[in-house]
Amino acid sequence: MIPQSFIQELLGRVDIVDVVDRHVKLKRAGANYLACCPFHSEKTPSFTVSPAKQFYHCFGCGAHGTAVGFLMEYGGMGFVEAVKELAQGVGMKVPEVRSEQAARRAEAGDDLYGVLLKAAQFYRARLKDAPRAIGYLKQRGLSGEIARRFGIGYAPDGWQNLAAAFSDYDGPALAAAGLAKTNEEGRRYDVFRDRIMFPIVDVRGNVIGFGARVLGEGEPKYLNSPETPVFEKGRELYGLYQARRTIREAGRVVVVEGYMDVVALAQHGVDYAVATLGTATTPLHVQKLARQSDEIVFCFDGDEAGRRAAWRALENSLAQLQDGKQVKFLFLPEGEDPDSYVRKHGKAAFEALLDRAAPLSRILLDGLAGRVDLSTAEGRAKCIHEAKPLLKQMQANLLRVQVVRELAEKCRLPPEEVARLCELAPGGDRSRPPEPRVARPSPTPLARAMLRVLVSNPTFAERLSQEQRALLSSPELAPVAELVDALKDSGVASPAMLFEATRESQYAMLYQDVAGETLTAAEDVESAQADWAGAFIQLELVCVQSEYQRLTASGARNDAERKRFQELSRRLAELKGAAGNGARTPI
Ligand code: GTP
Ligand code: MN
Repeated sequence: MIPQSFIQELLGRVDIVDVVDRHVKLKRAGANYLACCPFHSEKTPSFTVSPAKQFYHCFGCGAHGTAVGFLMEYGGMGFVEAVKELAQGVGMKVPEVRSEQAARRAEAGDDLYGVLLKAAQFYRARLKDAPRAIGYLKQRGLSGEIARRFGIGYAPDGWQNLAAAFSDYDGPALAAAGLAKTNEEGRRYDVFRDRIMFPIVDVRGNVIGFGARVLGEGEPKYLNSPETPVFEKGRELYGLYQARRTIREAGRVVVVEGYMDVVALAQHGVDYAVATLGTATTPLHVQKLARQSDEIVFCFDGDEAGRRAAWRALENSLAQLQDGKQVKFLFLPEGEDPDSYVRKHGKAAFEALLDRAAPLSRILLDGLAGRVDLSTAEGRAKCIHEAKPLLKQMQANLLRVQVVRELAEKCRLPPEEVARLCELAPGGDRSRPPEPRVARPSPTPLARAMLRVLVSNPTFAERLSQEQRALLSSPELAPVAELVDALKDSGVASPAMLFEATRESQYAMLYQDVAGETLTAAEDVESAQADWAGAFIQLELVCVQSEYQRLTASGARNDAERKRFQELSRRLAELKGAAGNGARTPI
């Protein structure tokens, strides 16, 4: 857990314009900066970065967030990773509350990056004076330029080559990095010997491990770094760092199985491919990829193993996919992998295969139907039974409706019946809490107006009286009430801080949406204050008016009611006066 106060301080020091500009060139336009949006393809810039508010907003696709959010979305980083990256840039150290053991591991972890980088540089340098290794890469069709782009190196034959690069060859760091081991006699030796070295790089550009191939024949063909505190195979994708820009340009990402496939595809101009690291595709992989691109094409061998791997990838994609994202599957002809295929047939032929890749829905339906005999009632029942857990996981509702319709046809049932049997709620999944963003009514214009004021002026929340807070108790004003409560005593002073403080809120999207609206509006504190005060007058007016009318209708029956009636008339007159006189109504 990173303390919220640290995030607040960090956002106070970081400038989002610098952070974004490092990745996407920004142009000044009035008070804001503009660029073509990196999150969708467009010709005229609608991606807006506000230096005053420290957040970005795209008027084209609705993408928005703070500097932290930008690194998460654009860089595919996790929250902690993004915070660390920003902190590093402004010379802050992330304080973390954690166990002693975890602290030691993290300390080793900080060090591991340095060790791994040094090793990668060492292997790269060794490649230069290893004609046999260079010959092997050449024979596989790779140029020096591609070898450089991927930092490919060579671990020479011999047991202790790394001793030349590391003065502390016997120390714990090399073992922790998975680069050296100690034998029974206590002698240190290199793990990687006489192998082509493929450095695995995370999205920040740190070397976190290696894949290592024998030159020619030999067992094992590939030797991979073990998992370490900095290297978790289920999260990382080989080649993603190199391909991030080109994935955006291409509008798609191809996922293959091998290092060589990524490198060979890049050699032939298909420079938007990544590989899993000898593991099955995980939901985390899919999540990471879906942040980078709207189209993910999984490429597998055409054999039985390839089909099985594809099904795994499909299962792990279902819960990650929103409508608007596409997952496709390409099965290569028997005996080919992407490397051999692109070398034989070239870029255009490979891209033609990509264009014809089967959509996830096709694979899902064929997979379900292929396992049973649909001509029997038992088979059709089994098909529905097997479809149920998969359909329940699907996040993309529009797509699910289509899949259910086709499945229903195959199983000779009405689609509503299939949905019922699979316990699919219309437009959502009943087994998980309802998606508040969809289920809640959209906020009233007044609530939206109040949010607009508050998002730009978070400190207004501090000055609220108890009576004013009570006026926010109606359900339409719940987003305002929640924001007021989150901001009160939080020290949040800017919109960017506000977003980070409300990241987990059910209304986070609404707050960011509203903030987007404020980017183009002219604002000054006086009118914001007038709007804010006006909103409360309006709220109170409604309350007082309805009570006044109730009492008028029933007639004041005793002293207490008569007194109340007088109070109400007086307050009503005051409020009407205030409303007509200076305090504005913000809508
Ligand atoms: P080339 O033979 O060099 O073309 O490799 P490839 O990319 O065609 O490899 P293959 O399809 O055999 O394997 C795909 C991926 O599985 C590799 O990139 C490795 O990550 C992993 N892999 C393959 N062989 C081994 C092995 O012997 N041991 C381990 N640990 N992983 C392997
Ligand atoms: Mn291969």
